[in-house]
Amino acid sequence: MCGIAGYIGPMQAESVLLVALERLKYRGYDSAGMAILDSHEILIRKSEGRLRQLEEQLSMRPVLGHCGIAHTRWATHGAPTTINAHPHTCARGNIAVVHNGIIENHEVLRSRLQAAGAIFQSQTDTEVIPNLLAQVYTGDPLAAIQAIISELQGSFAFAAVFEDHPDHIFVARQGSPLLVGRGEGQMLLASDIPALLPHAHEYLQLEDGQLAVLTRGQVRICSFSGAVIEPAFKTIEMNVESVSKGDYDSFMAKEIAEQPEVLQRILESRLRGDTLTDPDLGIDLRGINHVVFLAAGTSWHAALLGKRFLESLARIHVEVDISSEYRYRNPVASGGTLVVAISQSGETADTLASLRLAKSKFIPVVSLVNVMDSTIARESDGVMPLLAGPEIGVASTKAYTAQVFALYAFALHLARVKGRIDGEQMRRHLDGMRPIPELVAHSLALAEDRVLAAAELFTPANATVFLGRGGEFPTALEGALKLKEISYVHAMGYAGGEFKHGPIALVTPSLPVVCICPRDAMYEKMISNIEEVRARQGRIIAVGDADDDTLAGIADICFPVLRSEDELLQPLLSILPLQRYAYHVARGRNCDVDQPRNLAKSVTVE
Ligand code: AGP
Repeated sequence: MCGIAGYIGPMQAESVLLVALERLKYRGYDSAGMAILDSHEILIRKSEGRLRQLEEQLSMRPVLGHCGIAHTRWATHGAPTTINAHPHTCARGNIAVVHNGIIENHEVLRSRLQAAGAIFQSQTDTEVIPNLLAQVYTGDPLAAIQAIISELQGSFAFAAVFEDHPDHIFVARQGSPLLVGRGEGQMLLASDIPALLPHAHEYLQLEDGQLAVLTRGQVRICSFSGAVIEPAFKTIEMNVESVSKGDYDSFMAKEIAEQPEVLQRILESRLRGDTLTDPDLGIDLRGINHVVFLAAGTSWHAALLGKRFLESLARIHVEVDISSEYRYRNPVASGGTLVVAISQSGETADTLASLRLAKSKFIPVVSLVNVMDSTIARESDGVMPLLAGPEIGVASTKAYTAQVFALYAFALHLARVKGRIDGEQMRRHLDGMRPIPELVAHSLALAEDRVLAAAELFTPANATVFLGRGGEFPTALEGALKLKEISYVHAMGYAGGEFKHGPIALVTPSLPVVCICPRDAMYEKMISNIEEVRARQGRIIAVGDADDDTLAGIADICFPVLRSEDELLQPLLSILPLQRYAYHVARGRNCDVDQPRNLAKSVTVE
């Protein structure tokens, strides 16, 4: 979490960095700040709260200069106040630092520095960095960084500027992402590619254990110990449109609408005529008889569906683990196991740590990621690209449906490799996949008035329960997560059969219960769930077939969904009205759907 950026070049650094922070604010938005170098001093502006508060400050007190660093914060150590906002400096103010990550031994370092006379302003872990640098600095910034770097424990990416080196930015990476961008006579740095646009045309990913010195025209890279490393830039393929809201009022609305094209892209990448192409994983899957999915949040919900797909189609034993749990267990590693790490960002700290644990046990790891240059992708033995395009709204929408669709294709692939389905069965499944993008497009246009009416009716409710069975149990979990993360309504998803084991006690005439009830194998059971809620005067929002009059007759409001020929793929359609419902409830409660409180898009700390 947290985003860092830097610029050195012919433009005013302030304006370039504000755009970069705008693109990075999905990583955290508790406070923002920047340090700009003019020829005499380091000028700092920072503010708690949203980026616009920093913008207001800058419009009253602009800072001129062509070199600077900036930060948008997701608070870990210390409250989200202006004092704790980055950049942080040493007492003399001649060294400024922005940092992403956590310095785990900051308390020890702080006590030692304080004993030597350092005075700290903030409660952050970051402030030890400029103070350590100040202690050893004799005019050579790189030498100072090399002298202190081994003292920092934890994961970090930081950028530092030194008052007496006004045309230089110094950066270091150990465990947190950091990219260097190159444009015409200008260099940039950022935690993610969108923040390098539009000025950089090429980028390189700094590796752990590397330092870099940026000047206007070039970058010098070396290891922490000083070994020179040749920079290898790649072309930036992303364009500005893909990271802009366009005509939408939020990234979430844009990303919900993009789902048909994302699913079509996945289809086109995996289907050649009547055949499913092999993903290029570099792993022999024939001996795999046990798959472990590792993921967090929405990606974990997609993994639950991945389990259904693999078990039904490939008849393989599958476990689904929450990354933050797996990493602290001592999982049994047996031959024939494959770990599949699922992560939109490719940077989720818990998923990365569990991937590393699996690798330490010699378990092959494949990842399904949206950001191809991410740490998880780079550390996996094989990578499946998600192809969802940049997802910026904190609430994952298009990445979820992309994950589910991609996992279905992966399950088919494994089924074929294991000889569990024949050509005819494969053709039938591919026929089931083909109409999905169009069905999703039509479903998104369906009964917006009812979704809005339900959102209006239930906006005041302070809790909502979601029920689903079979493939719709993950839909219930995901629908509940969407609602709670962007509208702050307490929401829980339950397996329909579990409801009577406790949660049914919650039902009152003011509790909306969302029942996901397509006409599938679980239909009758879900109807019983609905009746049980009705008998206790609960309010029913049903998600079901457009022509299901029985359902319409017993629900307060019914969100119609289209039917997928292949029942396994139905959750891709059932989730759509729930994404829109969460969006409208959040708007009705005046919540910021793209930047919900306390959250960040990529969770790079534990
Ligand atoms: C989804 O809406 C969430 N904001 C969150 O649960 C997210 O899915 C989770 O943090 C995992 O992220 P990842 O897919 O980037 O690893």
